[in-house]
Amino acid sequence: MPERINVNGVLGPPEAAAVSPLDRGFLYGDSVYETIRTYGGRPFLLRQHLDRLRRSAGRLDIPYDRAPVDIEREILRTLVDAGSPETAIRVVLTRGPGPIGYDPETCGPPTVVVYARPCPEIPAAWLREGVDVAVVQVRRNSPSALDPAIKSSNLLNNFLAWQEARRLGAYEPVLLNAGEHLTEGATSNVFVVRSERLLTPTLEEGLLEGITRGAVLDLARHDGIETAEEALTADDLRRADEAFLTSTLKGVLPIRRCDGWPIRHGRPGAITRRILALFEEFAQAETKTGSAPGSILR
Ligand code: PDD
Repeated sequence: MPERINVNGVLGPPEAAAVSPLDRGFLYGDSVYETIRTYGGRPFLLRQHLDRLRRSAGRLDIPYDRAPVDIEREILRTLVDAGSPETAIRVVLTRGPGPIGYDPETCGPPTVVVYARPCPEIPAAWLREGVDVAVVQVRRNSPSALDPAIKSSNLLNNFLAWQEARRLGAYEPVLLNAGEHLTEGATSNVFVVRSERLLTPTLEEGLLEGITRGAVLDLARHDGIETAEEALTADDLRRADEAFLTSTLKGVLPIRRCDGWPIRHGRPGAITRRILALFEEFAQAETKTGSAPGSILR
């Protein structure tokens, strides 16, 4: 299954891809990104991902409109070229190369990298039984520092949390903020079910406004499930009736245990299973147009 990398419109195998060592993305993590996946070969919620990429770039004054290529077109071109049944795309927009120093006037134009690889599969057992998470000591960045709402490629804080979770034998860390409230996972948002209500931390707690999170909230509301965005603690998660993670690559992924505490006897509950089914149905419907994958190229 081929992996393809597109750097500023030059498309080829990963071995042939190159970005300057003076690129600010490399030097400072001065870049933003999106992870997009296909269902049935077609990109899922591409518009929302492109809008968020533009918003993230805007928050950092990375000039999206000065990108040397049309980002949407390059995503579609790379997708078609990769030709996998289901593709995971990472699109990275950096401030571009420039001399050492922070002055943004001296660098650019931005660099656009699109990386296409076969979509990693979620093992059926994880969907059936759930995964283990750990509430870690590493705190989520404060929104008054590098705001987690910006999907930046400056990911060391997420990496530190991930590493701590792995040491604890958990699949995904859940990070608290400085006020001891739940925020999100290292690469996912988190939901709990309590007394038949579906709860997730508010954006004000300092987290990424996940596109899967938004879809799940909408689907649940339409289905008549009571939802709320509110402040939650680690104990709310440990004692939840049900809990799950959401992300582009994980979809809706049930949580089996938190810090070793079984969530609902360690089996995904009825609301989680309902959300899983609704989300799968929505993803299929959103991406189904009856035409061949190549036709996404206008
Ligand atoms: N991660 N929170 C964080 C910190 C994330 O990195 C992600 C996504 C999410 C979920 O967002 P969405 O539903 O829009 O994918 C929440 C992607 C998948 C990644 O890092 O590759």
